[in-house]
Amino acid sequence: MLGEVLVESEKRPVEPPAFARTGIRVLASLPTGQTPGQTPEQLAEVLAARTVEAVPTGSLVLQAFTPDSPAGNRLADEADALLEAVRTRLPASRLLEETWRAREAGATLVELCVAPGVVTVGSVPAKEALSLSPGGRQRMRRSGDSPSRAAMKLEEALVNLPFEPGRGEVCVDLGAAPGGWTQRLVARGARVIAVDPAKLMPELARQPRVEHVQESAFAYTPEEPADWLFCDMAWRPLEVAQLLAKWGRRGWATHLVANIKLPMKDKNPILVRVRHILTQEGGWQGLTMRQLYHDRDEVTVTAHRGI
Ligand SMILES: C[S@@+](CC[C@H](N)C(=O)[O-])C[C@H]1O[C@@H](n2cnc3c(N)ncnc32)[C@H](O)[C@@H]1O
Repeated sequence: MLGEVLVESEKRPVEPPAFARTGIRVLASLPTGQTPGQTPEQLAEVLAARTVEAVPTGSLVLQAFTPDSPAGNRLADEADALLEAVRTRLPASRLLEETWRAREAGATLVELCVAPGVVTVGSVPAKEALSLSPGGRQRMRRSGDSPSRAAMKLEEALVNLPFEPGRGEVCVDLGAAPGGWTQRLVARGARVIAVDPAKLMPELARQPRVEHVQESAFAYTPEEPADWLFCDMAWRPLEVAQLLAKWGRRGWATHLVANIKLPMKDKNPILVRVRHILTQEGGWQGLTMRQLYHDRDEVTVTAHRGI
């Protein structure tokens, strides 16, 4: 353990842990406030030197975060100050400011984790990073016209995908009501078949690009294959996984984004079974399974078939 809510392992896990916000290769872990006479500037000097030593070439995106705990949150100002101090000690020509370009630019994400009593600097190629936000805390602006917090979960899931639903694509949204996800998809120009026995918000029900199928997703059969299958159904995880596996087996959709509800205490055994059902029984590939920043007792799964 590097500290509260920080976990260290010898080897990189084969699958990224579903409940990890972020993951970095530790370059250095230094105690703070214990070395007599050590100034913040000296600490920044060491952190910058270790970074350049470990990542000698290519562009860098430098970020700082604190553990998501009350003690961690109190260190936010300290983290900001250290970030600035390290930034000024790195070659300006190597710093990439537009974080959103980090993946396509082949940049390395360098994260400073400022925890009580210890600062850790670590790196990860942006292409392999679980999230491009500091510490995986992806803050989404709540858009004024969005009907539910759920919309932010969808946006967060889409930020991390190499493809996104676009103009003219057909999306099926299982468990769509009141319509946060459907609304975001329509705003991207997609056509949405919203499946939910519950009502959609009235402005969506009037939208020509939305078809509301007011029945259970377990009874619904699509008339034609969809580009995207979305699912945010509040239902038992294994039964939802079986339903998504059926969509995979029958080739009813190419891309999958699903939020799996996990109200039980012991979540991991269920996740193992969900993964097995989706990949082995459903043939879904490239599966990612993560608790996003906006997720509560739930994880978001993304996958695709035959692309
Ligand atoms: C968390 S809400 C979905 C929120 C939605 N994604 C949004 O952005 O507004 C869960 C939905 O699952 C629906 N649901 C539960 N069982 C269902 C089933 N068998 N078929 C379709 N929808 C179902 C509920 O009616 C509820 O509207």
